[in-house]
Amino acid sequence: MRLLIVSNRLPLNGVQKEGKLVFEQSAGGLVSGLSAYLDLLKSTSAQDIEYVWIGWPGITVQDKMQTEVKSVLGDLHASPVFLSEEAMDKFYLGFCNKIIWPLFHYFPSNTVYDKDYWLQYQEVNKIFRDAVLEEIKPGDVIWVHDYHLMLLPGLLREKLPHTPIGFFLHIPFPSYELYRLLPSAWGQEILRGLLGANLIGFHTHEYAQYFLRSVLRILGYEHKLGQILSQDHAVKVDTFPMGIDYQRYHSNPTGSEFEQNLKELEQLLDGFKAVLSVDRLDYSKGISNRLQGYKLFLENNPQWREQVVLLMIVVPSRVGVEHYQQMKRQIDELVGEINGRFGTLNWTPIIYQYKFLPLNSLLAMYRQSDVALITPLRDGMNLIAKEYVAARTDQTGVLILSEMAGAAKELGEALIINPNNIEAIAGALQQALAMPETEQKKRNVVMQQRLKRYDVVRWSGDFIQELLQVQKGQSRTRPLDQHKQALHAGFHQAGKRLLLVDYDGTLVPFTDSPDQAKPDKELLDLLKSLANADTEVVIISGRDRAILETWLGSLDITLVAEHGAWLKRRGEQWSLSKPLVNSWKRQLIPMLEMYADRLPGSFIEEKEFSLAWHFRQADPELSAACARELMDELVAFTSNIDIHILQGNKVIEVRNSEVTKGSTGLHLTDNYDFILAIGDDTTDEDLFAILALEHSWPGMLPPNTFTIRVGTDKSQASYFLPSYVEVKEMLQELAAGRTQNN
Ligand code: UDP
Ligand code: G6P
Repeated sequence: MRLLIVSNRLPLNGVQKEGKLVFEQSAGGLVSGLSAYLDLLKSTSAQDIEYVWIGWPGITVQDKMQTEVKSVLGDLHASPVFLSEEAMDKFYLGFCNKIIWPLFHYFPSNTVYDKDYWLQYQEVNKIFRDAVLEEIKPGDVIWVHDYHLMLLPGLLREKLPHTPIGFFLHIPFPSYELYRLLPSAWGQEILRGLLGANLIGFHTHEYAQYFLRSVLRILGYEHKLGQILSQDHAVKVDTFPMGIDYQRYHSNPTGSEFEQNLKELEQLLDGFKAVLSVDRLDYSKGISNRLQGYKLFLENNPQWREQVVLLMIVVPSRVGVEHYQQMKRQIDELVGEINGRFGTLNWTPIIYQYKFLPLNSLLAMYRQSDVALITPLRDGMNLIAKEYVAARTDQTGVLILSEMAGAAKELGEALIINPNNIEAIAGALQQALAMPETEQKKRNVVMQQRLKRYDVVRWSGDFIQELLQVQKGQSRTRPLDQHKQALHAGFHQAGKRLLLVDYDGTLVPFTDSPDQAKPDKELLDLLKSLANADTEVVIISGRDRAILETWLGSLDITLVAEHGAWLKRRGEQWSLSKPLVNSWKRQLIPMLEMYADRLPGSFIEEKEFSLAWHFRQADPELSAACARELMDELVAFTSNIDIHILQGNKVIEVRNSEVTKGSTGLHLTDNYDFILAIGDDTTDEDLFAILALEHSWPGMLPPNTFTIRVGTDKSQASYFLPSYVEVKEMLQELAAGRTQNN
C-alpha cells in the first residue's frame, strides 16, 4: 500500500543560508508527530507501507530552481507544491492564520474576514488537488491533514470517486456558535469539502461532536453513530487522539550530543528547581498568562525565590501575522519585567530562548525539568505535554496542564488548571514544587502506561485501518450515468415492461406539507406517455389511497398506497393486498401527539394502516434528538405488536409489518422482461432488497432488472441518480426513445 500524505507544510522547511537554499526540520505537532510515525515505518521492514509526503517546502522557490528542489526532496519521500509569495500571503498568512486558526481556537476577535483570502484558499486547495492527481497511482490511499486543506477532500472526491480519502484535523473544531461566524457560503463549502473524505478524524470526542453538530445545523445532514448518510460515498467521523513515539522520548538518543546537552543543563541548573515552558509563539498557547502566573507565584512565595528557574523556549512561528508580532513584544516585556523585578546577581528567574530546539536539546530539557508548565488557552492536542511525561524515565516530575488542551482528556493525573486563572497557575506551581516524589511517580506511571499503549503508530494505524474499512463497507451503488445505455437498450428491446416508481422525493420534490406535492401537468403527461399495453407503470407510495386516487386515479396506471397495504391494479378497484388490523393505532396516537406538541413544526399524518410523524419543517437539531427519543419509546412500547417502525426522510412511520413495498412490489413482477424500480427512501429499500435477492436466482426475474436509488444514501439498489429532476429526465428519455423506436 502507498500512502499519500498531504499537508500544507512538508516536514522539511526551506531557508536561505549564506545565499544557499537549505532544508531544516519544520516546527509544529503535525510534522513532529507524523514524522515520528514515518520514521518508525522506515525502520520496521515488517510494515508494508510506502509513502510520499506532498506539501509546501516552506519557501518560495524560483522557477529555475524547482526541478532541482523536486529532485532533492524526492529522494526524501517528499513532493513539493510550489506556491507564489502572493498566494502564501493570502492563503497561509491570510485565510489559514487570520481566519481559521483564530476562530477555531476561540479568538474570534483576531479574525479578518477578507474575501480575497477565501478566493486564494479555494485556489490553493485546487493547486494541491492537481499535485495529488499528478502523484496518485492505482491502489494509493490519501491522507489529508489539517485546516489549510479542508476543501481538498471534496475536490479530490470529484476526480477520484473510489479512492480512500482520510482527513485529520490537528486543531480544535469549534462549537457551532463559533463556526457559524464564518460567512455562510464559506462555512458550507468547508463542511462539504471535508465530507469528501471517507473518514474525518479529530483529537477529541468533543471536536467530533461539534463538527457533527455544524454539519447538521448548516447542511442538514444527520448522522448515525458518526456515519453521515447524505453523500455518494460513506463518511465516518471519529476520534483519534494523536500519540507520540513513546520510545523516542523514553530512551536515550545515540551520540554524544545528548549527553553533552544534559551535562550543560545540569551545570546551569545546579541547585535550582527547573520549571519548563515550551511552545511555538502563539496567542493560543497562553504564554502571557503563564508568565503572570509565575510572577504571582514569586510574589506569593518569597521562599522559592533564588530556588527556582523558569526555562522558557519560544519557537518562532508565523512571523508575518500581526497578532504573533504583538505577542512576541508582550512576552519580551513581561520576561524583562519579571527578571528585572526579582532577579539578583546570582539568579535569573526566567531563562528565555527564542528559537527552535532539535530533539537532543529538547529531550535534555524534559529530563532536567522538575515541572512542565503547559497552559494553552486552547490547543487541539499539545504533544509537548505527552513528550514531557514520556521523557521522565525515573517517573518523577510534575505536569501542570491546561484543561483547554486536547491532551488533558488523556492526562487526567496531571495538575489540571484553567489557564485564565492566574491564581490557579501560581497555586499549581506551589503544589508541584512541593509534591512528594511518591505522589509524582504514582501519577506519572499511569500516564506513561497510557502514552505507551496509544502511541503514534497506534494512532495512525487505527486511522488507516478504519479508513480502509469505511471505504470497503460502503455501498456498491454506482451512478447511473455510465449505465444509461444498457437501461435504454433493455427497455426498448423488451416486450413487456414494468416500472415501479415511488412518488415523493422520486417524481416530485419534498414540500413543507405533504398536500403541496401535487403532480403538475408535465408529470401527468409523462406518466401517460409511459403507460401503454406493453408498459405497466406502478406508483408505489407510502401515501394514503385517497390522495393517490385524487391525484393519479384518472391515469391508466397501477397504484400502491400505504407502502403496499392497498393496491389498485389498472382498470380495477382498490383492495387490501392482505387482511390487516389497525387497532394498534389508537394506542400510539397519544404518544405521537405528545411529540408533535413538543416539536414545533412537526405533525402527525394518519393513514388507514399506518401513522407518520413528519418533522421536515422543524428545527433540525431538536428534531434529531426528539426522533431518537421517539424511536426508542416506540420500539419499547410496541415490542409485542406486529408492527414496523421506520425512520424515513424527516419522518418516522409506524405500519403493519406484514406488508412492505417489497412484498407487494414483488407480487406484481410476473411476466415482464424488463423491470425498473426507483425510489428515494428507506421503504424503497425493501423493494430493492427483494428484487436483488430474487434476481440472484436464475429465471426468477428478467436479466434486465434495474434498481435506482434517488439521492446518495447507502442503498441496496444497483444505481443512483442525484434527484427527482434526473429521474424525470431519464423517464422522459425512455418515453421519447420509445416513440422514436416505434
Ligand atoms: N518541538 C521541537 N523543538 C522545539 C519545540 C517544539 O521539536 O524547540 C516539537 C515538540 O517536540 C512537539 C512539537 O514541536 O512534538 C509541538 O507540538 P505541539 O502539539 O505541542 O504544538 P503545535 O506547535 O503543534 O501547536
Ligand atoms: C500546528 C498546526 C500545523 C502547523 C504547525 C506549525 O501544529 O496544526 O498544521 O504546521 O502548527 O505552524 P506553521 O504555520 O509553521 O505550519
